[in-house]
Parts: sequence; C-alpha cells; structure tokens
Amino acid sequence: MKRIISPSLLSADFSKLKEDIDIVTTAGAERLHIDCMDGHFVPNFTFGPFILKAIRKLTNLHLETHLMIENPSNYFDDFIDAGADTLIFHYEASKNIRKDLEHIKSRKIKCGLAIKPETSHEVLEKYLNILDYILIMSVSPGFGGQGFIEQTLLKMKSTHEMCVKNNCRDKITIGVDGGVNLSTIKKVYDTGIDVTIVGSGLYKADDVINRFDELINCE
Ligand code: DX5
Ligand code: ZN
Repeated sequence: MKRIISPSLLSADFSKLKEDIDIVTTAGAERLHIDCMDGHFVPNFTFGPFILKAIRKLTNLHLETHLMIENPSNYFDDFIDAGADTLIFHYEASKNIRKDLEHIKSRKIKCGLAIKPETSHEVLEKYLNILDYILIMSVSPGFGGQGFIEQTLLKMKSTHEMCVKNNCRDKITIGVDGGVNLSTIKKVYDTGIDVTIVGSGLYKADDVINRFDELINCE
C-alpha cells in the first residue's frame, strides 16, 4: 500500500509558515494536517477558520482539518468556506454524528471522524457507508510531541479489517495521528492504515526533506 504522510502544521514555525509549507511540498507531501483546538474539548488553543483561510492562500495541497472543538457543527460552514478539503470532527464531541457527516458531505467536501485513544473503533461501524476518512488518535488530543500510545496499534489493524469486512476499504482513508516518528512509523504502516500525520517527528528535524524521505522509506 502507498505510504502517505500528512505533515502537521502544529509543529511548523508560523513566523515562516510559507517556507514550512513549501519545504514539505518539495519533499513530496500531497496533503497537510491542520489542528484546530478550542481550549474546551482539549486543554490547548490553536486557531480557527480565519487562519485556515490564510493557509489556503499559501497552498493547493489537500487540507485535512482536524477539529478538536466542542459543538463542532456550529463551525462546519466557517471551516468549509475557509478552504478545508476534508473536515474531521471528534466522535466524542458531536451530538448528532450522522447529521453532521451528512452536512459536511452536502457541502461537497470529504467528511471524517476522529476517535480518542480510549474510544473503540467499533462505534464507527454504523457510519462506514458515509465516511470518507477515519482518524485514529495515537495520543490524547491536544498537543504535539507526545509519546505514541502502543495499545492503539491493535485498533489501527482492527479498523482496517473492519473496513475490509464491510467492503469499504477502498473508499475510506484511515489516518493515524500523534507520536508518529522514525521509531514508530513502520509499525503504524504495518497495521494497514493509509496516512500518518507527522508533526514534531518531521518539522523538528535539521533536514526536513531528508526526514520526509526517511519516514516514507523506513524499513
Ligand atoms: C495532537 C494533534 C496532532 C499533532 C501531532 O492533538 O492532533 O495532529 O500535531 O503531532 P506529533 O506528530 O508531534 O505527535
Ligand atoms: Zn491532528
């Protein structure tokens, strides 16, 4: 299976954001991961649609936007208007998951659900017919640079198998978010998932282009 890395801009240097987007684009990234946090759903703030709109002007890459916010549906249209290509909200934050997924789809972009490390992948099964993207958190959402939670590896494999069993593996992209770096990426890909989100494990490298290559080609 093709390995895909989605660089997380949470670890980029926002004082030179264009440069930090361009360097991963040169390295071969086809998508970027945008972490939006509200200080309620997670104990950290980042940014909202206003900054996403600015990012949109800097790149044509696919923007997968990960909402770590309460009442996400209140803000879907703002994030879509700002330029999200995939909009991912948390299973644990939504009050009406199917309605929320349908709303995002009605706006002609891709919809995704994220689950925290303690949430079972089985809760997603009834949404497989509408989902475009599943985001498995391998750290507790809120901060970059945390340690990878090994127990989530089994969930990655089970999510892949659940999609195969339901004949939707080709339709759904499975991403893994948190603590993915040179020491953990191989075992993540071995579970059968598609996309790894890499923040600090990429942007903190002295040579980002070389690190991207090492991450893609690790044995
Ligand atoms: C964590 C975020 C992640 C984060 C990953 O709440 O959702 O996307 O940026 O960063 P690293 O790769 O440093 O764990
Ligand atoms: Zn994320």
